[in-house]
Amino acid sequence: MLCLGIESSCDETALALVKDGRLLDAVLASQADMHALFGGVVPELASREHYRYMGPLYDTLMARNGCTAADLDVVAVSRGPGLLGSLLVGVAFAKGLALASGARLVGVNHLHAHLLAAGLEQELVFPALGLLVSGGHTHLYRMEGPDAFVTLGRTLDDAAGEAFDKAGKLMGLAYPAGRLMDELAAGGNAAAIAFPRPYVHNETLDFSFSGLKTAAAAFLDGLPADCRWPRPLRSAEEAPPILRDCCAAYTQAIVETLLIKTGRALDRHPDLKTLVLAGGVAANSHLRRQAEELMRRRGGRLVVPSPRLCTDNAGMVAYAGWLLTRAGGRHDLTLEAVPRGRPLPDDLLHDPPRQTA
Ligand code: KG4
Ligand code: ZN
Repeated sequence: MLCLGIESSCDETALALVKDGRLLDAVLASQADMHALFGGVVPELASREHYRYMGPLYDTLMARNGCTAADLDVVAVSRGPGLLGSLLVGVAFAKGLALASGARLVGVNHLHAHLLAAGLEQELVFPALGLLVSGGHTHLYRMEGPDAFVTLGRTLDDAAGEAFDKAGKLMGLAYPAGRLMDELAAGGNAAAIAFPRPYVHNETLDFSFSGLKTAAAAFLDGLPADCRWPRPLRSAEEAPPILRDCCAAYTQAIVETLLIKTGRALDRHPDLKTLVLAGGVAANSHLRRQAEELMRRRGGRLVVPSPRLCTDNAGMVAYAGWLLTRAGGRHDLTLEAVPRGRPLPDDLLHDPPRQTA
């Protein structure tokens, strides 16, 4: 079964082919450099860039793999949550392609696709606890199966990635700041600055990161006037020790906060022995290492995709589409794109499960 995945929920235009559950090939055009000029994603520009790149990327991917539209069994597309204009480009392209080729159309929940991505590299076992940490979302899920996710907790304000990007902006790091902050943190002393572990003294599994960003702003405001570095800072070599300490302490505050609530979720769901970590922030080396330690201490298993499958990509969308199709799921041409903040409808149509690989 050949499944094309289409991803355009934010600022990456991406397509990938998954055949019988294995990633064949993928193409991606990132708009990060363009949005960096504005310090964040400009939705109108993002939609236009998706529209510009989608067709040529599709042609490249199909030509490279000797495929035509007639070879496609499934067209899977990220249908939300995300930026509405950006999602519409992908969903409209997917509908046209499915209609023209006769392939099955499957709308994929972008957040679930992040958590399922690890299945391209290793075995996913259900039930599992899922921690999804991306630029727009921070969610804890009880994952019962590929299309059965129960939300246990979520962020009340900034997502973990936003917490990295917004504080990074205050520190003068180029957008998106997560990857550079990860690198700078490795050379700093996390104990040098006491940042809070926000919103942990309560009973919920929700998160709130906006206060942490305020603490970073207050710390940076208090620095002496002669404490300067180039802005925007694009490489680690230009960073002074105080900035490295700030990145290390800030990163540690986010990582510990995430893992405190993750530990709490595992306490409340003792049958869950696997933690699936996913989303752009799951590429963070400090989070990966400490999540691994947490699961080792608990005698459980950490499942985390390789970093290229953590950030937005179409392989995860194609794979999620393949899993949903295998279970008999599909959509029709009424499939809607759903922007961030609105719940995704439970509108998957069901055929008998497929017996293919
Ligand atoms: O999942 P993703 O690619 O896009 C969304 O769906 O949001 O996540 C992007 C986020 C950005 O906030 C970026 O700063 C963050 O992931 N990120 C990282 C790292 N790499 C990407 N954050 C921390 N450490 C990293 N190494
Ligand atoms: Zn994402």
